[in-house]
Amino acid sequence: MEAIREAIRIERLSKTFGNGRRVLEDIDLRVEPGEMVALIGASGSGKSTLLRHIAGFTAADAQPSRIEILGRPIQQNGRIVREVRSIRRDIGFVFQQFNLVNRLSVETNVLIGALSRLSWWRRLTGRFPGEERALSMAALTEVGIGEHAHERAANLSGGQQQRAALARALVQRARIVLADEPIASLDPESSRRVMDMLRKLNREHELTVLVSLHQVEIAMEYCPRTIALRRGKVVFDGPSTALTPALLKQLYGDDAREWLDENEADAPDATQPDDDKSVAIQPGNASSASSLYAFALKPAHTN
Ligand SMILES: Nc1ncnc2c1ncn2[C@@H]1O[C@H](COP(=O)(O)OP(=O)(O)OP(=O)(O)O)[C@@H](O)[C@H]1O
Ligand SMILES: [Mg+2]
Repeated sequence: MEAIREAIRIERLSKTFGNGRRVLEDIDLRVEPGEMVALIGASGSGKSTLLRHIAGFTAADAQPSRIEILGRPIQQNGRIVREVRSIRRDIGFVFQQFNLVNRLSVETNVLIGALSRLSWWRRLTGRFPGEERALSMAALTEVGIGEHAHERAANLSGGQQQRAALARALVQRARIVLADEPIASLDPESSRRVMDMLRKLNREHELTVLVSLHQVEIAMEYCPRTIALRRGKVVFDGPSTALTPALLKQLYGDDAREWLDENEADAPDATQPDDDKSVAIQPGNASSASSLYAFALKPAHTN
């Protein structure tokens, strides 16, 4: 039997933009199929840039590196592979905004997810077979917005639009969802609905989810594992339950104030020694998944 491949595998990824600023630094990550992983970090820490590299929208620095999606390289050594489109079929995208084509109906937006599977003439004529329509209605119903199928996308609330984007990922038969701050512009109730839906896709459809978030509490509630970035480096990768306010303060120092609650940022210092090169953290209730985690907790002050 063939071994199960990682959903996402990243080796030695670094990115320097034209202005000479290194935005991602030597990132090594593996995400197993079926995981739901949060990506956290202050504004500018590199979350969106990392997600864009995984999706093959941005090429890494021209030096040895590799990103694989379900065992297939999407970029290597700073070059996006030629088959990028076919690899992207496995990935559903949800962004903070601009997920849908406003002037099209919700249903058509969701059907766009099926386009890569349709024949060229159907794509040209915009005719979708009944089977695809049924699939799209089922997906919209599943995410709780079936009654809005025939409205223009522009008429949906932000949270409903995000759920339509998730329906599109279902119709596309994506295996992985990359969500970049999908709840950043939503009120708490809509945020919760979108996160509930992401969790449903993860649990019931076995989609692998990597979601960037600003709110650590949401990461802890919904994602068993969190990857924390600071200035382009992975400073923590482990069970979300380990992310105590004290640890966050240790990881982010005064930067934590920017993006954590006052209360969290004011927590007492962590007891771990600051001068160690790395600190091992025991997984809490994640024993079965412990092999998935590389406990790489680096001192925050090396940046
Ligand atoms: N195309 C680009 N050219 C130059 N610099 C860029 C480019 N894209 C991103 N950056 C820089 O890379 C850094 C990381 O940006 P990124 O958008 O990945 O951060 P983020 O963690 O997603 O932040 P936020 O929480 O605000 O969304 C920032 O300093 C940003 O200015
Ligand atoms: Mg971002």
